[in-house]
Amino acid sequence: MWAILVAAGRGERLGLDQPKAFAKLNDEPLLAEPLRRLDDSDWIDAIVIVAPPGWEEPAILLAEELGCAKANACVAGGATRSDSVRAGLAEVPADALVVLVHDAARPLVSDEVIGRVIEPLSDGWDGAVPGLPVSDTLKLVAPDGGVVDTVSREGLYAVQTPQAFRADVFRAAAAAGDATDCAGLVEAAGGRIKLVGGDERLLKVTTSDDLAKIAAWL
Ligand code: CTP
Ligand code: MG
Repeated sequence: MWAILVAAGRGERLGLDQPKAFAKLNDEPLLAEPLRRLDDSDWIDAIVIVAPPGWEEPAILLAEELGCAKANACVAGGATRSDSVRAGLAEVPADALVVLVHDAARPLVSDEVIGRVIEPLSDGWDGAVPGLPVSDTLKLVAPDGGVVDTVSREGLYAVQTPQAFRADVFRAAAAAGDATDCAGLVEAAGGRIKLVGGDERLLKVTTSDDLAKIAAWL
């Protein structure tokens, strides 16, 4: 079981001088929390860190400082999230059975949710993603702000990471293309993805308010 921790985004909406993965969460770089949690998980055998270009060295140093024995490789990411995932996947050996992809921007990954996404792979699913049912009313809105329609939220889920995949299926699906999440690549290739229960605490850090919220939960 290999984990790819994607941390190569610029964090434009957070708007700091350094990339989001090195924004401070309490007294540590944001990357520290998800890295330590993946390293501590009994499900995971090895981790590939995908760092912002030029930040590979600080990422490796951080992994050493934290004593992350499973951090196996650190590579620079690409222009899009899918490019970064592909860069990480290139470091995963051919005999890996399962690939788990996680956003470093979701620091509070837990062993429970990792177990939930890995379990369906032994029941014939190609991948599994955690998600939460959408609770707000959804509107379809035109570019001028005019509401076009109210959309039923029946069966709609907001999807998170970690996402787990059969390694062979994922490698083929991820070879090309772009999607906002990895499951989208597998879906586009005809793969079967199962939705499992997500976790409110897997909130993704987008703005400084999110950082403050997650710091308070720690
Ligand atoms: N990511 C990545 N490589 C990219 C873009 C995103 O590895 N080229 C990673 C981010 O580091 C993050 C996750 O994908 O862990 C989700 O991306 P997002 O929350 O959009 O982060 P950023 O792209 O960094 O933020 P922004 O969109 O505000 O610039
Ligand atoms: Mg982004």
